Amino acid sequence: MIVGVGEILKKAKDGGYAVGAFNVVNMETVQAILQAASEVRSPVILQVTEKTMDYSGGRNIFHIIKNTAEFYYPEVPVGIHLDHGKSFEVVQRAVEIGFDSVMYDGSRREYEDNLAMTKKVVEFCQENFAGKVSVQAELGSVPYLGEVNMNDNEWEKYMTDPGQAEEFVKETGISALAVAIGNAHGFAKERKEPDYARLEMINKLVDIPLILHGASDWENGRVKEVIKRGICCFNVDTATRMAFINNIMVALKDEGGGSFDMRRLLGNAREAIKEVVKTKMKYFGSDGKI
Ligand code: G3H
Ligand code: 13P
Ligand code: ZN
Repeated sequence: MIVGVGEILKKAKDGGYAVGAFNVVNMETVQAILQAASEVRSPVILQVTEKTMDYSGGRNIFHIIKNTAEFYYPEVPVGIHLDHGKSFEVVQRAVEIGFDSVMYDGSRREYEDNLAMTKKVVEFCQENFAGKVSVQAELGSVPYLGEVNMNDNEWEKYMTDPGQAEEFVKETGISALAVAIGNAHGFAKERKEPDYARLEMINKLVDIPLILHGASDWENGRVKEVIKRGICCFNVDTATRMAFINNIMVALKDEGGGSFDMRRLLGNAREAIKEVVKTKMKYFGSDGKI
């Protein structure tokens, strides 16, 4: 069943657990994640990037998610979200397709520019969709694999400033905030320890759901520490992509293509994603929340 992302996040925040926002690129990734959610009885967010909209067709991927959720998993609360929309145009394209939640990612812009663009996106969504579309923004900047290998001082330039976060949320009217506290995209060498004190401060000053990107390689203990301090959603991509591709690589190595049945090869890789997602949902504490 499709439900608003805002509603899924609110329940998680109020309930003291987190949900996973998992990136999908095709039918198999959608099925794997929804099957996992069904097996552990977890709400879930499925998200699509601009690159995926170009790869699959924005409408195709949106309707694969919607159809699979509605027809095959009516018991699972499913939210659909645009991840890392880097321009006003891509946000516009997504909401016109039907996405009820979008990330406008101006994190690589100067603060004032990020603020102005984010405000423009929120206003557009309010004016055209009567407040039914949630907007996530990012402040500070979560680095990518290749940018990291830094000492704690160098991390400073990426981190979310709590005071700025308070002002940014008030000024823009966003519904959710992605924070940078030492986390990095990809299986990267991250800061020795997440900056827990910074997260606590942001959580004190800001009353909207806080999202953590790039933590798909985090072990359970660390996950629990940030949930305690206000994180109610984890974005996960690398862990599921790796499970899928590794499974295919092993199969091809072992049987060199075997019967050349794509359904068997992709079906087994889909199972591999499902297992990773179930583990994450248990870490996040969203299992059993349906
Ligand atoms: O952080 C988001 C995704 O991992 C990036 O994926 O290659 O679809 O842009 P992408
Ligand atoms: P990972 O690629 O590290 O799992 O991060 C995913 C993410 O943040 C998507 O927005
Ligand atoms: Zn991200």
